[in-house]
Formats: sequence, C-alpha cells, structure tokens
Amino acid sequence: MSSETRTEEPETADADADAESAGETQRQPHQERRLERKREQARQRDLTEEARLEVEEADETVSLKVFRYDPEVAGKQEPRFDTFRVPFERGMTVLDALIYARDHFDSSLTFRHSCQQAICGSDAFFVNGRQLLGCQTQISDLDEPIRIEPLPYYDVLKDLVVDLDDFYEEMRSMDPYLQPDDDPPGELAERRQSRQNREDIKMSTRCIWCASCMSSCSIYGQGEEYVGPAAINVAYRFAVDEREPAEVTAERIQRIDEEDGVWRCQTQFSCTEVCPKDIPLTQEIQDMKREAVKRNLKFW
Ligand code: FES
Repeated sequence: MSSETRTEEPETADADADAESAGETQRQPHQERRLERKREQARQRDLTEEARLEVEEADETVSLKVFRYDPEVAGKQEPRFDTFRVPFERGMTVLDALIYARDHFDSSLTFRHSCQQAICGSDAFFVNGRQLLGCQTQISDLDEPIRIEPLPYYDVLKDLVVDLDDFYEEMRSMDPYLQPDDDPPGELAERRQSRQNREDIKMSTRCIWCASCMSSCSIYGQGEEYVGPAAINVAYRFAVDEREPAEVTAERIQRIDEEDGVWRCQTQFSCTEVCPKDIPLTQEIQDMKREAVKRNLKFW
C-alpha cells in the first residue's frame, strides 16, 4: 500500500463517519417528529376517553351539530355536519362547548376566537339559524340540537372559518379613522368633544367588526354591490363626529350616497336584529339617507 493511499484511508473513514453522523442527525429530527406525533395521538386518545367518561357521568349534556368542511384534506371536501355531545355546565357558552369538542374529540375542528368577552368580534357563527357571537351566547338559551354553521354569504375556508377579505375591504373603503385638520392646541392637549356629540356617536363606536350584520343582509349577501351595514356604521360614526372638518364630513356623506351606498338598503332590519352590540344600524342608515338628501337639495 502506498504512503499516498495510507494517507487517504483515515480521510475516507472520516468522511464515512461524517456521512453516518449527518444521516444520524437527519434521522433524529424525523424520529423525534414521529415520536412527538405518537405522543400527541396518545394524549388525544386519553382526552377523548376522559371526555367520554365525563359525558357518561355528567348530569346534563348538550348536543352540537357542527358544520365541517376541509377543502385541503381528501375525504373531507364534502360539507357535512358532525355531532358532538359535551357535558353541560351552568354558564356555558357556545364557544365553551366548541372548545370542549375541539380539545377532547377532534383537534382538527377549526373556528376563530380570541377575547371570549364579546370584544374582538372573531367568533360570530350562524347558530340555530341566527348570527350570534359564540362567547356571548348561553347554551341554556338555545334549543337542542344546537346547529352551528359558518356565517352565511361568505366563502368557507375551513369548518367555521370564513373568508372575510370582502368585509375588511368594505370597512377600509370608509377610512375608519378620525381625520382632523389640525393638531390639538398645545403640547399634550386633548382633542375635546362635547358630551352631546359623544353621546350621539356612542352606539356606533361599539362596533366590533364581527360581520354579523353584513352576513344577515340579503342585499349585501346577494352580491348587489352594496357596502353593507357595518361599513355605513363606520361612515356614520365619523360623519357625526364633530372633531372632523366639514370637508371630510362632506366626503364621507358623498361616499355613502354613491350607487353602492345607503340607497341599496331596503330597511329589512335584519342587521339591527343580529347586532351583538345593539347598534341601531337601520336607524343610522336612514339618518345617513336623510343627510345625503339634505346635502343634495338645491334652492333656486
Ligand atoms: Fe372575541 Fe367572542 S371571542 S368576541
């Protein structure tokens, strides 16, 4: 064996060792992931078993029929309803029941939620045929089985999650922010508003962008080029606010006086009925119509 070959031997051995250790390193995360998946499946089985016993022993249970649809998973692309039976507790909301079902029976059940205090507006569903906030709706107020569906008129992305791009676009088209023409006088000075003016916009400021009103409106839902009640509420909230200059107010009124604005409303009151914050939306739309007419009147 030549000295040259001898000097190569350890290098080949090192390379083999390196390759082996690289393969080992690659295998490790893979094995780790498999183990983790197995641990998770075992945990899920335990939770389901625990829940099954809880349901058996519970004094009262509640039955949920939940809309399911997952366009990305083979075999689940057909819309269907799954039934979950969960133990009932006093004070339980629709969102609590959904969370229980997801955490104990099917971790793939998908829905939005966040604050659980009727503030973020993310958990509006179509419950027993009506737009309701999951976290604000008591199970005890509903008839069984409780049927939970995604908001109507919006495309379903998965289970109870809908595509709200159009909703946000309409809301943004109303410039949903205060546009004063100057800074308040003096450093750290407040921008004052009269008590009466604050009172006038009070209800409109309660909007939590849950899209319930939009999803209840057949004019908006049938693609009639209508900005919808929530967007008009934004226009109202700022048009009435005395801290904006007259030109900005005029622009806001003009915006909702367009073809897709207030004149599309047929005073069905469905938006007002479903608003979880009791905003008098139909009334606001009528007020905006009156304001638009007043501004268009000409005297010769
Ligand atoms: Fe925020 Fe219901 S979870 S409004």
